[in-house]
Amino acid sequence: MFSYKRRSIFLSILSISLAAGLFYCIFTKPKDKPIPVEDVFSQAPWSKPLPYLPPLAGVGEVRAENCGKCHVEIYAEWKTSTHANALSDLQFQSELSKPSSPRWLCLNCHTPVANQRETLVDYLNNGDYRSPIEEPNPKFDPKMKEEAVTCAVCHVRLDENGNSYILGANGKTKPPHPVKIVPDQLRNRCLDCHNANYILDDQLVCAFNTGIELEQKENSHGKLACGSCHMRELQRKLVKPELNTPIRTSHKHSFIGGGVPKKFELYEKQIPGGYRSGLTIEPILWKKKGNDLEYSVSLKNEKAAHNIPTGDPERFLLLKISILDPEGRSLADKEIKFGQEWEWYPKAKLVADTRILPGETKVWMDLFTGIEKGYSKIVFEIYHIRLKESNAEHMRKNSEKVKSYQLRKKISEIENHYPFSSLVHKEAVDLNSGKSRIYSPEEVFRISKNRRGE
Ligand code: HEC
Ligand code: HEC
Ligand code: HEC
Ligand code: HEC
Ligand code: HEC
Repeated sequence: MFSYKRRSIFLSILSISLAAGLFYCIFTKPKDKPIPVEDVFSQAPWSKPLPYLPPLAGVGEVRAENCGKCHVEIYAEWKTSTHANALSDLQFQSELSKPSSPRWLCLNCHTPVANQRETLVDYLNNGDYRSPIEEPNPKFDPKMKEEAVTCAVCHVRLDENGNSYILGANGKTKPPHPVKIVPDQLRNRCLDCHNANYILDDQLVCAFNTGIELEQKENSHGKLACGSCHMRELQRKLVKPELNTPIRTSHKHSFIGGGVPKKFELYEKQIPGGYRSGLTIEPILWKKKGNDLEYSVSLKNEKAAHNIPTGDPERFLLLKISILDPEGRSLADKEIKFGQEWEWYPKAKLVADTRILPGETKVWMDLFTGIEKGYSKIVFEIYHIRLKESNAEHMRKNSEKVKSYQLRKKISEIENHYPFSSLVHKEAVDLNSGKSRIYSPEEVFRISKNRRGE
């Protein structure tokens, strides 16, 4: 690809220490016209990383690692979050390694501070997002790059003199570093990345609408900040005990979502981190009629102020009902999905959307007919799916293109490293006794931790 070729030319030029400016004079074809990124994307917050943030007075480099020296608990929570894993994410790495991927743009939300970037893009050739003009960044901090959506993304900004300060929302605290208290600015930061709706071209669209979903008229939650659910309040000291600060109102920094973590070992952090399903699920209703069995299940999106699922267009809920014989063998099963359906070619287009709106109740009624053998149990399961097996198969096939050996190996056996989905609800009904057992969240996550694949 064009951008790749340019990169390799770039490296060889560097090695004979020519100035970057000269490079562009010689190698840029005369018809190429550099257009500022701002002009192309009308200053969308994700079109550029935050500017370089210099060391913070009282702290040093604005790495999460440094914040963690005092804010020990908050750091530990954030470490388990999807934000902290937004670069190492195997699915992200796999997509990033595709020659067609606009890496610079992807990194603007996944590693969003200039300090984290090896190269910076201020101009696009002829305004084409696939033809970025990448310039080396002398202030690149490789350690901070690995931190992905790090503390500074939300908390560090520049004052009029170009010094870093902490953006806070509390105001009663006594920190050793400069702070400015602008609660709305901090709390609304989420929308810059989670509410991005943009058509780049026929194949590439950005379709994160969580903020818009929050404003749907069906929504009875009123106008809530994302953090009011995703950063649950608790009382604690904001820093390590040695600093002798009082207990204050604080917020969990685990940013738990739909219960599908990025690594298997993070399953045990879901419930302590604040996971809760957005659904209220009624016990299954059923009726036996000879060889037929009728059933009905009902789920209401009561606790998420946005659609379930939200965010990534590939996510969906899979509901599955199985009937079992007395030995526990499946005799028949039925499935239904709630999610979006996109057509990607020739032009990306949303063709169907059956996600559950805030406040909406979905009822799924059906019947099994003509079951010959005796059946004794119904099992009702809900899976939250992040990655389909068919997409994973593409990733395994394309993994040869991944440069790093370790990543390549992991992606070639992605099912062993990356949870594709989670079981989020399970109910088993004994049809003879009529007794029903609903699994607790702890139990379904224990099962999920040992599952592999879709
Ligand atoms: C040397 C210790 C130390 C380091 C390092 C440190 N902080 Fe703090 N920070 C504090 C203390 C102490 C407070 C005040 C706690 C209190 O009064 O309860 C505080 C308060 C805060 C607040 C709350 C401000 C408010 O009133 O809303 C935020 C946000 C914050 N720090 C973020 C950060 C971030 C982000 C970093 C890393 C870039 C960081 N801190 C690094 C010690 C530190
Ligand atoms: C700079 C961009 C950015 C900002 C700002 C941001 N996020 Fe995120 N967020 C991401 C990215 C990127 C991911 C997904 C990373 C991945 O899956 O690899 C993510 C993931 C999440 C997830 C986890 C979803 C899951 O299924 O694991 C939640 C929840 C979340 N963000 C909530 C928030 C909240 C709340 C805020 C504001 C306080 C916020 N985000 C601000 C970029 C951002
Ligand atoms: C995705 C955005 C985001 C990231 C990343 C983030 N925070 Fe926060 N943080 C917030 C928001 C929003 C609040 C304010 C919550 C409120 O008051 O409603 C907050 C509050 C705080 C506070 C004040 C006390 C509290 O718990 O409310 C401290 C201290 C803090 N963060 C430190 C950190 C540190 C340290 C990191 C990195 C390890 C970090 N934050 C990462 C968004 C973020
Ligand atoms: C009223 C509470 C509430 C508010 C407000 C809220 N969320 Fe959620 N969110 C949830 C719940 C509950 C879930 C888990 C839903 C489920 O899968 O059952 C969730 C899931 C998610 C997920 C995971 C994606 C998925 O479907 O699995 C992301 C990302 C997310 N929320 C982002 C946001 C952002 C960004 C905002 C603000 C624009 C926000 N949320 C506001 C409750 C809330
Ligand atoms: C506008 C900011 C933004 C940009 C630009 C962006 N992402 Fe993301 N990305 C996000 C957010 C926010 C999430 C989390 C959404 C969620 O969990 O629902 C995410 C999640 C992901 C995930 C995880 C999906 C999942 O289901 O777990 C992958 C993979 C990903 N992005 C790849 C990319 C690639 C490749 C690009 C460049 C073509 C890109 N992103 C550009 C904001 C962005």
